[in-house]
Amino acid sequence: MKITVVGAGAVGASCAEYIAIKDFASEVVLLDIKEGFAEGKAMDLMQTATLNGFDTTITGTTGDYSKTKDSEVAVITSGIPRKPGMTREELIGINAGIVKDVATQLVKHSPNVTIIVVSNPMDTMTYLAHKELGLPKNKIIGMGGALDSARFKYRLSEALACPGSDVDGMVIGGHSDTGMLPLTRLATRNSVRVTEFLSEERLTQVAEDTKVGGATLTKLLGTSAWYAPGAAVSSLVQSIVCDQKKMFPCSTLLEGEYGLNDLCIGVPVIIGKNGIEKIVEIDLNDEEKAKLKESAEAVKKTNGLLE
Ligand code: LAC
Repeated sequence: MKITVVGAGAVGASCAEYIAIKDFASEVVLLDIKEGFAEGKAMDLMQTATLNGFDTTITGTTGDYSKTKDSEVAVITSGIPRKPGMTREELIGINAGIVKDVATQLVKHSPNVTIIVVSNPMDTMTYLAHKELGLPKNKIIGMGGALDSARFKYRLSEALACPGSDVDGMVIGGHSDTGMLPLTRLATRNSVRVTEFLSEERLTQVAEDTKVGGATLTKLLGTSAWYAPGAAVSSLVQSIVCDQKKMFPCSTLLEGEYGLNDLCIGVPVIIGKNGIEKIVEIDLNDEEKAKLKESAEAVKKTNGLLE
C-alpha cells in the first residue's frame, strides 16, 4: 500500500525514513514543489535500504500528484516552519493557502485517502482541511498530541531518572505553547501515579517544559524540530496501515465530545484502518476541564483568522 508524504523538508523526510525503517508499507511517495528535492531525498533514503534493512520503496516527485494516486494515507507537512521566537499561530497566513491546495490535490487523486495534517498551526490547519474537503470526519487527523505526549514522557523520564519505557502519559488540548494540557495527574510509572514520586512543583516544571517543547528546540536548532515529529507521524501511519487501533491524542473534529463543538483539538482517539475510529472521552477534573475549554477558545480564535 502507498503512503504519500507531502513536503520533503526535515519533518517530511524524517517521517518517510521512519516509515521505511519500520518496514510496514510497500511504498512511500515524497512530494515537494522544489525542483528535484523530493527525488534527491528519496534516492538518498533508498541508498540506506540495504544498510537499515527495509524493503519499502521510496520515490520522489516534484509536484506531480498523479504519482500519489490511490494512496491509503497522506501526510501534509508542507508550509513554512517557525523560526526562533515565533508562535505556530503566526504561520497561518502562508500555510493556510498551501494546506488547502495540497489537501485538494491529494483527494483528487486518492478519494479514499486518510489525511494526517502536520503543518502549523496544526489544529487550525486540520479544521481547514475538514471545511475544505468535506471528507468523513474520521479521515482527517491532526498530528500534535502524539508528539507532545512523547515530549511529555521524555520530560517525565528525566524528572524520574528512569527510562522512557517506564513512563506513560498524555497531552491533550491545542498544539500550542499555551494550549497544551499535559495530564500530570494521570501519568504513571509502571502503573503507579507519578504524583507518588514527584512533588507538585517538579510536576509543574515537567508540564511547563513539555508545553514549550517545540519552542525550546526551535531556539536551539534555528528552525522547527523534525526527528520526534517524524517519528510521531510514522506511529500514526503505522496504526492506520496495520490497523493497530492504538490510542493517541490527536486533533479531531469535535461535535459535542468534551462539551466542545466545531473545532479540531487534541483528545484521545483510537487510530485504525478507518482513521479515527473512536473519540475516547476520559474523566477530567474541573481544573483540567477548565484548561481544555480555555485551550479550545484559543484554537477557535486562531480558526477565526481563516476567514
Ligand atoms: C513541533 C512542530 C512540529 O512541535 O509543531 O516541533
